[in-house]
Amino acid sequence: MNTLTPPAAYDLLRVGDWDFGDFPYALEPLAMPPAGQARASTEHRPLTAPPCDPDRICGDLRALTGTGPAAGHLAVPPAPSYDQLFWFRWITGHQVTFALWRLMGRILDDAAARETAPGPAETARLESYTHGYCAMLLYSGSCPRALYQSLIRPAMFLQHRGFSGTWAPDFAQVRGLMRGRPLPWLRHGRATGLRIAVDTQRAVHDRVAARLVPNGRSLLQQTIAESPVRPSERTAVLYDNFFMTLRGPVPDTAVAAQLLRRLRAVALDLAVNGLYPLGLDDDGEEAAVGNISVAACERRLGSVLAVAADHAADLARQAPAAV
Ligand code: HEM
Repeated sequence: MNTLTPPAAYDLLRVGDWDFGDFPYALEPLAMPPAGQARASTEHRPLTAPPCDPDRICGDLRALTGTGPAAGHLAVPPAPSYDQLFWFRWITGHQVTFALWRLMGRILDDAAARETAPGPAETARLESYTHGYCAMLLYSGSCPRALYQSLIRPAMFLQHRGFSGTWAPDFAQVRGLMRGRPLPWLRHGRATGLRIAVDTQRAVHDRVAARLVPNGRSLLQQTIAESPVRPSERTAVLYDNFFMTLRGPVPDTAVAAQLLRRLRAVALDLAVNGLYPLGLDDDGEEAAVGNISVAACERRLGSVLAVAADHAADLARQAPAAV
């Protein structure tokens, strides 16, 4: 196991300001409403959501990301191993992404139901959440290639040898926007920032994919010829199960609260370990692809998280966070 600090020196009781999961870099299940082909369990019973204080979390995020008063008092121990750190990032970064997609889906659904374009405030939120998604692509994919190839990809392969991002149930709500469907309101001047964010998201995804898998071939692409698998209710369950995501009648206020708790854990991790604690293993020419938007995304990662948290907090404050 890759060891960050000698396990004997790692005091599990010294959790500092970490309050996510049972110990630093532990995982929590995410409860989400039905989406795409993922249905709610008929037996769904409410989960008791851990407490979420939106104002405190937003304050901590501003402090941790350097966008507000300093956080001399916030502390968290390093992860006991790089395996644990990057596994936490892969799973929790995806969970943050699902919540962001859901909150974007809600804005798009509301606008579609009104048969109007998203208003200026809604467009600003869509832009902020899309930048948040870019940040999570970088965060989830911040491990060295060797660790991705030895730990993360084999785990997904064992879940299903054709495991694919196309199975992500929550992506269904934003696929049109993210994949450049011609939405008339996107031509408005006020959507310029959102259009740029959507372009950035594509560049960052492709950059992360190229860095971690140099031939860029996904598990799905590797297996499609021998066993084509189309997205279905079954693949949705396989996907959700991998990322510890449950489905039930979960209100968006509770999605926002769960998002906030995760953003705080992510910000604590980044404050202690940085984005690339083991550096980047880019090789020359490859690294140039998408470099400018990816570098900009890396630079503003902290402020992006703080702004997305402010938006999510507006929603989380509207109801108690019981799921
Ligand atoms: C960092 C976290 C990642 C996230 C959140 C993510 C998300 C997604 C999503 C949502 C799709 C579906 C796009 C659509 O339906 O139009 C997708 C597709 C794809 N992704 Fe990723 N992705 C990630 C990392 C990677 C990596 C490391 C690779 C490296 C091979 C990769 C390669 C692909 C490919 C080739 C596709 C096309 C469909 C397929 O062959 O599975 N992605 N990804």
